[in-house]
Amino acid sequence: MAQYHVDKMAENVYILRVDDAETRYFEALWEIPEGITYNAYLVLGDEKRVLIDGWKKNYAPQLLETISSIIEPKTLDYIVVNHMEPDHTGTLPTLVEAAPNAQIVAHPLAAKMADSFYGIKGNIKPVRDGQELDIGGKKLSFHYTPWLHWPETMMTLLTPENTLFSCDAFGGYSIPPTIYDDNPQVVEKYLPFATKYLFTVIGGYIQHITKNLEKLAGRGVNPATVAPAHGLVFRRNPSTIIEHYRKLAAGHVQKGKVTIIYDSMYGFIEQQVAEATVQLQAKGINPTVHRIVDTEHPHLSDIVGDAGDSEALIIGASTYESGVFPHMDYVTDIITKKVKHPKKILVLSSYGWGGVAGKKIAKKLETAGHKIVDIIEIKGQLTQEDREKIRDAVSRLLN
Ligand code: FEO
Repeated sequence: MAQYHVDKMAENVYILRVDDAETRYFEALWEIPEGITYNAYLVLGDEKRVLIDGWKKNYAPQLLETISSIIEPKTLDYIVVNHMEPDHTGTLPTLVEAAPNAQIVAHPLAAKMADSFYGIKGNIKPVRDGQELDIGGKKLSFHYTPWLHWPETMMTLLTPENTLFSCDAFGGYSIPPTIYDDNPQVVEKYLPFATKYLFTVIGGYIQHITKNLEKLAGRGVNPATVAPAHGLVFRRNPSTIIEHYRKLAAGHVQKGKVTIIYDSMYGFIEQQVAEATVQLQAKGINPTVHRIVDTEHPHLSDIVGDAGDSEALIIGASTYESGVFPHMDYVTDIITKKVKHPKKILVLSSYGWGGVAGKKIAKKLETAGHKIVDIIEIKGQLTQEDREKIRDAVSRLLN
């Protein structure tokens, strides 16, 4: 049974959060054993009642029940759709049925999608970038933030509370034990999940984080509370999550973080990685390792999250049927799509008849803008000379 939370954030402002521990693959792609939350918000003005965002469709009856614990759903005047992805709009058809007089407030592009996704044609109020909506004693303003995470995405600012409903941006995976960032230990544990979320979901559009942050700053948006549609609400220190996103978007890395991703069919690449690890450890670095072997496969989501804030990568790929070992081919493709800031990369490879994988992998990464420090392709077991080559390459990786 999913857990639901309703909490009063301020006078007449509520968070409605559902903890989804059932989805194993977010977007049917990213492994999330840590789960995810969907946060909707209810804002009651003196004149108008507004729901901001929604939940995934599995939880539609529970969302209605949760709203009903505060107001009659049919008395809603507006449903603000900051972003059309169905993890936030799956409940829209149910809401529209329960609140037939409510207008859907959204970007004009979202208004069109409401029809194509859900057959919702009428009662839509498209809003302009920067448009305001007075709801009596409180005001909402809408700020287009394209590509965070789709082109139609916007954020909604509530005043006088100065709360920014930021939807995907400033969100993260996991089911935090608290709703707010009041406990620093909760925040510390949460931030790596925000990193993983940022790179897997928004990584391909990372430059738009910077652009939209600049745009919001230019408008004087400096929220006292950051209320995203996934994860923790930041009210004790909203700059924590804003700065976290800003830094990652600017390409900041964890100093000395090296992530190794490799396959090893029969242990030959494992030997290469072991040699590289000895050299890393000699420099005081304990690499983060994701191994594809006959006893385990890593999560793609963790690989992307770790690659994103690493200073350097070591990628080991077997030659397989005159090409690249399929999983590593896919992993490399995903890295080129989701990790946009150039990384220093050492490519290791193993072959039986002819070296192919290393060059192919390196070419793909280089074409995507990454810096290949070396390609080392080895036939079978390591010779002493091979070991020296690897050690030398690792030294150059961190220079
Ligand atoms: Fe949380 Fe892009 O949806």
